[in-house]
Amino acid sequence: MEHESKSGTSSPPAAAAATAAEAELTDHEYDGIQEYDNPMPRWWVLIFWGSFYFATAYFLWFHVYDKGSVSESYAADMRTFREEIAAREMGSGATEESLAKLSENSAVMADAASVFTTRCIQCHGPKGEGLIGPNLTDDHWIHGQGKLMDIHGVVKDGVLTKGMPAWGRQLQPMEVAKVVAYVGTLRGKNLPGKPPEGQKVVAAAPPSPGG
Ligand code: HEC
Repeated sequence: MEHESKSGTSSPPAAAAATAAEAELTDHEYDGIQEYDNPMPRWWVLIFWGSFYFATAYFLWFHVYDKGSVSESYAADMRTFREEIAAREMGSGATEESLAKLSENSAVMADAASVFTTRCIQCHGPKGEGLIGPNLTDDHWIHGQGKLMDIHGVVKDGVLTKGMPAWGRQLQPMEVAKVVAYVGTLRGKNLPGKPPEGQKVVAAAPPSPGG
């Protein structure tokens, strides 16, 4: 392949080439092809530098300094989406069956675990083993028989005189349902923690694999 650069040679192909035009030619020539030394059009240059600076700023913002992370907002969107699906599955309201079904949805239970972590562990311990509030993993229940709807009642309305907040005032119904279903998955784990309080019940439900 012939590929010679006759740099320096400025013998123009056309003898008539004007000196002015010649001055704007670049000093290389490939296979007899020469090019003018014209600047890039302004619009092109603006787009070029514009995208260069945008890309740099984008990279720094999202990947280096990790501000307003795309993956976080994606996770939030997915959470909302899963809740909508779960809400549809729950139908008109919380029942023993709908809550049980919710506790089988492992993605929803993962969300619920984080609600439990932010809202409940300061009183019930990181694993629900009890702290200020009772152990939620044993077979003893102060309120009801440890059925999902019993738990739903306590979580929604609280036991204000004993320091258990009424979560129905602070959380959306769906969030209450989620965290109740999550507490359902803790039943029967019998983790060592706060000693049993209330009445012993016959195993309220087999522990479900959701949590
Ligand atoms: C500020 C402390 C506190 C927080 C936060 C708290 N609880 Fe409680 N919880 C209590 C106390 C205290 C009791 C016991 C009430 C009683 O003695 O009647 C209780 C009772 C319960 C019971 C009934 C237990 C039983 O044996 O009948 C459930 C279920 C429960 N909490 C779930 C939750 C969930 C779910 C959350 C988070 C959304 C939560 N709690 C957050 C203090 C708290």
